[in-house]
Formats: sequence, structure tokens, C-alpha cells
Amino acid sequence: MTSNLTTVSYIGAAMLFILSLGGLANPETARRGNLLGMVGMTVAVLATILGPRVSSGGIPYIVGALVVGGAVGIVAARRVQMTQMPELVALMHSLVGMAACLVGFASYVDTSVHFTGSEKAIHEVEIYIGILIGAVTFAGSIIAFGKLSGKVGGKPLLLPARHWLNLAALLVVIVSGRAFLHAGSIQDGMPPLLVMTAISLLFGMHMVMAIGGADMPVVVSMLNSYSGWAAAATGFMLGNDLLIVIGALVGSSGAILSYIMCRAMNRNFINVIAGGFGTASGAPAAGGGGAQPAGEVVSVNSAETAELLRDAKSVIIVPGYGMAVAQAQHTVYELTSVLREKGVDVRFAIHPVAGRMPGHMNVLLAEAKVPYNIVLEMDEINADFAEADVSMVIGANDIVNPAAQEDPASPIAGMPVLEVWKAKTSIVMKRSMASGYAGVENPLFYRDNNRMLFGDAKAMLREIFAALKA
Ligand code: TAP
Repeated sequence: MTSNLTTVSYIGAAMLFILSLGGLANPETARRGNLLGMVGMTVAVLATILGPRVSSGGIPYIVGALVVGGAVGIVAARRVQMTQMPELVALMHSLVGMAACLVGFASYVDTSVHFTGSEKAIHEVEIYIGILIGAVTFAGSIIAFGKLSGKVGGKPLLLPARHWLNLAALLVVIVSGRAFLHAGSIQDGMPPLLVMTAISLLFGMHMVMAIGGADMPVVVSMLNSYSGWAAAATGFMLGNDLLIVIGALVGSSGAILSYIMCRAMNRNFINVIAGGFGTASGAPAAGGGGAQPAGEVVSVNSAETAELLRDAKSVIIVPGYGMAVAQAQHTVYELTSVLREKGVDVRFAIHPVAGRMPGHMNVLLAEAKVPYNIVLEMDEINADFAEADVSMVIGANDIVNPAAQEDPASPIAGMPVLEVWKAKTSIVMKRSMASGYAGVENPLFYRDNNRMLFGDAKAMLREIFAALKA
């Protein structure tokens, strides 16, 4: 393939990626977006392998790597549960970071290419920044993986004088950078490069360790953005324009997502990075700060719940992480259909950070074929709870916690929540009184108009469905 044809293919692939991102912005077009992304990636890989910069001797190695990597990817994607997706995504981000580091070191020790003067300086700056971003992304993503999978506690690690430590780390990185750029040989340049890599790894770990459970959604999207910048840095080091474009697309869309997440949680981005919010213990019913709720918990059974639903004119369903755990989305759809047949107005309220990854609930409901027009975002539906007869919370907790509005001492104070308690009756479906991801007590459970339906979401929904059909 000539260099011109490669460039044309790269432009085509870049356009497909932009269209793919556009498609992914909406659940109705997300499948098409995914398909366009896959076609774009195929074009990109083929154009690179067959392009002028890969010698024919290297192709078997690349094909071998593609087969091994592809096989691992297929097995991982088939085995992973929907609820483990965020962990898998965090692991993938860590691989992008690791790739940036490895490419950086390989470019530095590669003696086959000779740069001189300003070209050499630019190349070395690319290497230094590429490894820096890669190492932060790698270490941060590994810790995020640990936190999301529960292997590392959700409680923020708040080292004394942590801001000073970060400042000292930044100074060492700058001084090492100077030494690296002025080094006369690879042997002289390697020590400052290794010092910077070690500091970046520690910084990445510390950055995510300092973030509390309730801020993890922002971290997930932030690391997504970092992985894009790491890929762009790799593109600079390898002189690959397409990688730079894709990296910048992922980096900036991840940054926009982080901004949206921060707004959804009423958080300031800088405060999130500074750490310490959402001082969650991660342990069930841990309290986690804030006032102890007062009142009595009233539980109902599935027959009574079916009765409440049958008598209602308007029902708003709030799905949360527990619906994903129970894989209850298909049963939710069946229940919705039977209620709608009976003339009940059923709608879904989606909180921006419901579940464990952006769009988690939308994906599950779309998979179960719930019509898009009855699935509404928080801002579109929050005012309607006051007019609803029943709000039914399925495996959600933090996103319906009134303490966020009413208790300034609560670790989630200020986070916008779905006001389910304003409905005539709210029903919360969960297995126990355990707290949610943020480890905060939920006073909703003790409200006079609230009923608790204890049990696995899928089993309970089946029972309600059977009672409604009977
Ligand atoms: P959570 O607050 O985590 O609550 C989920 C509830 O589901 C739990 O209290 C649990 O109670 C219940 N549950 C678990 N398995 C169940 C089952 N099989 N059947 C019925 N209930 C079950 O979830 P949420 O309300 O969706 O809020 C999301 C939280 O995750 C927020 O704090 C958010 O900040 C955080 N987070 C979000 C993201 C993104 S990007 N969305 C990423 C990381 C973290 P029981 O154990 O009593 O059943």
C-alpha cells in the first residue's frame, strides 16, 4: 500500500470514528455507532499493517499478536458479567497506559532512528510526556479496577500533607525532565526517565486512592480521558497521525463526560481530583457519616406490591445497580408491558450515575427492549414524582437518598437525587437494609409513605408479575 493510500484510509477511519462517537451519544443509534467504530478500527489496522512503515517480515508477528490479543478479548468479553464491565473497562485503560510507557522506552532506546537538533528535543519531549501520561493512566486504572471490584477499599486514602507531596512530585518531574533533555547519551537520560516513571506511577496510585467511593463515576470517565491522551502521546512517539486523532477524540470526549458527571453529582472537578469526597467505608450498612435516620421500616410482600401497582394510574420505576446484579431487566420489561396493558402509565427515571458506569441502566433497558420514549433522564422526570401514585425503586440506593438534599453532614450532600419519596407511595426493592456504593445510610427506607420489598429483584419482580397476571 502506498503512503498516499494509507493517508486516505486513515482519513476515512478518522471520519468513521467521529461518526461512531456521534452514534454512541444516543441509545437508539448506539448499535450503529459501535458498528461504525468496528469498521473504522478494521480500516485503521489494515492500513497500518499494509502501509509503507511495516516491512513484510514484521507482518507475521503483528498477525500473531492480533490473534492472541483478539482471542483474549473475545474470551474476556464473553465471560464478563454486565456488572463487571466497569472493571474490565478500567483494566483496558490500564493497558493503553502501559502501551504508552512501553512505546516511550522503546522509542528512546531505538538506535535505528537518528534525530538531531530541535527534532531530537521534540522527540524526547514526546517520549517524556508520553511515558508520564501513560504511567499515571496505568497506575490509576489499576487502583480504579481494585476499587470497582471491591479488592481495594472505597475509603479515600488521605495522606497527611498530600497536596505538598503532590507538589514535591511535580517539582521532581520538572527537574528530571530538564536532566533528561540535557542528557548526552541514553545511559545518562535513563536515570531521570526512570525516576519520573516511578513518581508518575506513585502519583497515579495516590490520585485514585484519595478519591472516595461516591466520586468513582468521575474517576472512571477521567481515566477514560487519560487513556485517550496516552494513546495520542503514543501516536506522537510513533509518528502515527491516526493514533493522534483517535487519542484526541477519546481524550476530549472523556473530558466532556467527566464534566457531565461532575455536573450530575454537583461536584467541582478540581475538588474531585483533590480527593476526599464520599468518605465511604464500602461496607454494607456502615452508616458512613451523616445523621442516623429516624422512623420505622414497613415491609410489604409481592402480592401487596402488585395491589399497589394495579391501583395506580402513574408509576415511575427507578432502576439501580441491584437491577444489574439481579439481571432483572427482562422481568422489568414484562412487568412494564402487563401494567401498560392494564392502562397504567409507566415511565423510567434514570439517574446519571445509576449503576457502575455511564449509561449502565440505559444499556440494560435497551437490551430488554424497553421503549426509549418511556425512559427519561433525571432532569426530565424529577418534577413528576409529586404526581406519581407509585415510585418503584429496583435495586437503587444512593441515587434516591434524600440525605443528599436534607443532611449537610452527609458524605453525599449536594449530589442531585431522584425524589422518589414525593410519590404517593414509594416501594424499595432490595435484599436487606445494607447501604449502597457510597456506604451511606438511607432515610428513605424509614419514611411513612415508603414500603420495603425485601428479596432479590428478579425473584420479587417475577412474583409481582405472577400476582398481576392472576
Ligand atoms: P447503589 O447505591 O450501589 O445501591 C444498589 C443497591 O442494590 C444496594 O443497596 C443493594 O442492596 C441492592 N442490590 C444488590 N443486589 C441486589 C439484588 N440482587 N436484588 C435487589 N437489590 C440488590 O446503586 P445506585 O443507587 O445505582 O447508585 C450508584 C452508586 O454507584 C452511586 O454511589 C455512584 O456514585 C456509584 N458509582 C457509579 C458509577 C457510574 S459511572 N454510574 C461508577 C462507580 C460508582 P442489598 O444489598 O440490600 O440488596
